[in-house]
Amino acid sequence: MDYKKYIKIVHDWPKEGIEFKDITPLMDNGKAFKSAVNEIVEFARDKQIDLVVGPEARGFIVGCPVSYALEVGFAPVRKEGKLPREVIKVDYGLEYGQNVLTIHKDAIKPGQRVLITDDLLATGGTIEATIKLVEELGGIVVGCAFLIELSYLNGLDKLKGYDVLSLMKY
Ligand code: PRP
Repeated sequence: MDYKKYIKIVHDWPKEGIEFKDITPLMDNGKAFKSAVNEIVEFARDKQIDLVVGPEARGFIVGCPVSYALEVGFAPVRKEGKLPREVIKVDYGLEYGQNVLTIHKDAIKPGQRVLITDDLLATGGTIEATIKLVEELGGIVVGCAFLIELSYLNGLDKLKGYDVLSLMKY
């Protein structure tokens, strides 16, 4: 499916010089959204996934329907101060800023096979931080799936050795 026709490009948002890729028109189209989720589910199908992990906030939008379809759990990675119990954390840089990501310490059992999902791969800072959290808890990252990859930001360089799916590239 040509998903790009459902992505709206917003110039200079949230900052000057950023060409924001708005995925909400894709989410708004039931058939397109289902097709995108199904492609990620098929990518994950033979990987014996135990858990899907996604970073706040748009990683939840992609990851939750995938985990539902695979009949496995979903663990949220959240910005600092949002998770109520004991967490581990990591600092990361993103396309437009700096942040801290956290995950509950008991979210992953050592040896669990994890699929990481997000809407967008830009500089790769978010996914790199998410991988660090998963691996620190003993999880095995068996795949990373995105709706969109901004190839010109070279986020893939941070994902060498990992199995990556991107449904759209810019
Ligand atoms: C955006 C996007 C990815 C990340 C990609 O999230 O949803 O998670 O940036 O950028 P990177 O590859 O350069 O790290 P953002 O941090 O804006 O959070 P949000 O989804 O909560 O808006």
